[in-house]
Amino acid sequence: MQLAEVVEQTYGESTQQEARYRSALSTFAGVFGPGPVSIFRAPGRVNLIGEHTDYNHGFVLPVAIDRDILLLARPRADSSVNLHNTEPVFASRTFAVGFDIEPAEAGDWSNYVRGAAQMLAHHIERPLLGMDALVSAAPPQGTPRGAGVSSSSALTVVAALALAWLNDWSPERISFARQCSEAEWYVGTRGGIMDQFISLLALPEHALFLDCRPLGNGDYHLNHVPMPSGYRVLVANTGIRHTNVGGEFNLRVAACRAGVACLRERVADITHLRDVQHIAWEELAHIVPEVMSVSQARERGADLANLPLRDPDALLRVRACCRHVHSENRRVQAAVDALSAGDVTRVGELLDEAHTSARDDYDVSCPELEAMVNAVKKIDGTYGARLTGAGWGGCVVALVHQDALLDVESILPELYGASTGIEPHVFVCQPSSRAEHLLTLSV
Ligand code: GLA
Repeated sequence: MQLAEVVEQTYGESTQQEARYRSALSTFAGVFGPGPVSIFRAPGRVNLIGEHTDYNHGFVLPVAIDRDILLLARPRADSSVNLHNTEPVFASRTFAVGFDIEPAEAGDWSNYVRGAAQMLAHHIERPLLGMDALVSAAPPQGTPRGAGVSSSSALTVVAALALAWLNDWSPERISFARQCSEAEWYVGTRGGIMDQFISLLALPEHALFLDCRPLGNGDYHLNHVPMPSGYRVLVANTGIRHTNVGGEFNLRVAACRAGVACLRERVADITHLRDVQHIAWEELAHIVPEVMSVSQARERGADLANLPLRDPDALLRVRACCRHVHSENRRVQAAVDALSAGDVTRVGELLDEAHTSARDDYDVSCPELEAMVNAVKKIDGTYGARLTGAGWGGCVVALVHQDALLDVESILPELYGASTGIEPHVFVCQPSSRAEHLLTLSV
């Protein structure tokens, strides 16, 4: 297949996308010289509903967005990985693939690729070839960074996919997605599996219902849910960058684990909050203290061993966090039913409830997210509006009827700008397809 055909198959007709690929190919040839080159892509994601449930073995419903990361690569005869980025702010990096790859300094972009390479070294039982690789991820076609749409997981996934493919290793997708999520722990956040699963398993025009509890055989229960026709996914970036590596994310994980320790009183073999999902919240609430400190949670037997927590006196809002997870799992299941029935109004109500719960119970909103949610709600033809991703900034997601697209793109930035003074980045997308090797050609 030719480049133009592959691009059209992936995005529909788009001269901008084709120009982006051609420009990346010519940069690759300029940096690494002429010869064969393989093109890989991995999409970012937006989560429709199911926030902070994945690491509690709960339910999520993300879609892959049509903003992605491209990686162009050529195998090497040695184990070096030579990384170049089309954006000059990301300096070129070199490292060798191995079991124990030295990280670059915290926050360095190459750490996601290092994590992916180290993970593969542990899974492929032979010495690995490195690669010369060019990453092209600049917005608008690329995945916005620090916006809660998982650009970091897309980079991890595309690097792992490329190295695996160049080394003739074709893993089964579900276990590969789990391996990629563990690869990302290399950078220091204890995230769940949602982002890598949607990037590797997405279907165009579908959301992915994923039950994050592994089945006994390492498999997962998942289900592609068709999106209602005539509606798009609105992603509105507040312009406030969030960073997962900060301590707040890990404190929420700790609050959930503290809840697990307390709920052992009711369900002796509980390992994750998921284990009490079948019990009504009213029967559980009194077992879980409203607030506990990190050290009290440890004394109560909470498993906090692999969580970097600096302050033993930090307070965990255990009851509210557990209530969020419990109610959110139920909302995800209800949203799957409503989407399948084409009941967009009901989906919107559930998204609104999810936002309230994330803000009031999980406490991960911020003034700019509130301003964006309020702005979206003022526009007719939008359904629901909620923070998506970890929170503390990043994006708001909503469903939008195709007749309201123009209003969204023109009025929303004005409304948000008027209340915050920030110019937001708003885009509307179609659920996109999964990460793939697209094509090998010569430059
Ligand atoms: C981050 C993590 C995900 C998930 C979300 C919150 O994006 O990487 O695994 O926990 O936060 O839903």
